[in-house]
Amino acid sequence: MGIQTQLDTYPSLEAPSWRHRHLLDMDDFVREEVEVVFNTADAMREVLRRDIKRVPTLRGKSIVLLFYEPSTRTRVSFEMAAKNLSADAINLTSTTSSVTKGESLVDTIRTIRALGADAVVIRHPQSGAPYLATHHLDASVINAGDGCHAHPTQALLDLYTVQHQLGKLDGLKITIIGDIVHSRVARSDIQGFGLMGADVVLCGPPTLMPPGWEQNPPRGVTIDTNVNHAVKDADVVMALRLQKERQQEGLLPGTEEYAQLYQLTEHRLSLAKPEALVMHPGPVNEGVEITPEVAQGNQSLIEEQVTNGLAVRMALLYLIVGGKN
Ligand code: CP
Repeated sequence: MGIQTQLDTYPSLEAPSWRHRHLLDMDDFVREEVEVVFNTADAMREVLRRDIKRVPTLRGKSIVLLFYEPSTRTRVSFEMAAKNLSADAINLTSTTSSVTKGESLVDTIRTIRALGADAVVIRHPQSGAPYLATHHLDASVINAGDGCHAHPTQALLDLYTVQHQLGKLDGLKITIIGDIVHSRVARSDIQGFGLMGADVVLCGPPTLMPPGWEQNPPRGVTIDTNVNHAVKDADVVMALRLQKERQQEGLLPGTEEYAQLYQLTEHRLSLAKPEALVMHPGPVNEGVEITPEVAQGNQSLIEEQVTNGLAVRMALLYLIVGGKN
């Protein structure tokens, strides 16, 4: 039965073959699984075009959104995704939970387990926090961003957006500019685009590159600190936010110097392929890493990324939570 028919026919829910109980990182995905996500997201886009954007697929399931860091796109899109699939979405933030009274992450996780959630979507400033959560939960854990480590649902929506726009990923040149060392998006995108056969070029100040990568970059990745050269003939140019909340003292002289050397401007974009796609995971600081003209220009897919994020997160909840008894 096709995914679309399954979404139309309740209660017959048979998620396509899917082996991931949790979604923690891109490092254990294979190409075919990314394609399953794409196909499922296509079906979810169709649901989102309907007048009533809701299917009963996850009725009776509970999804806890546990956010220890601020978020707009990821939290809201997961909440909408859960509701569109008729699951109950429960928001828990570090500022409104008993974390303010000294409760530890593990205590919070144990409490969620006792309440019987089916999935926990977690964002945490510490790399590895979602992995810790898996040791204390029967529920599925979805990593919504952990420290500087990984943001796999962002990577999947980025891959889906490019695939949807260009019809392929294989052989594309994807240039990512900015604060690479602090970027969990960059780490997950590198793995995802690389898996799908794209060539990734990373560009930014040497102080904002992960230590050792200039001499020994990850497989399939090129490091180029000259922005004009890095964007030349790119199919996709992605700008990243300077993560001031994770900066250590002295990594940058200042945002003005950064903008002068690395800001994505119309001139720099003109060096990429004609019609090259402009992307940014958000939140965007216009005037720092990207000019307003480029961020809002006709090559920009920044809003499309957000829209696709909903379809991709619906697909992931369907595959991860829907496949469980
Ligand atoms: N891209 C992203 O994770 O955005 P939020 O921090 O708004 O969720």
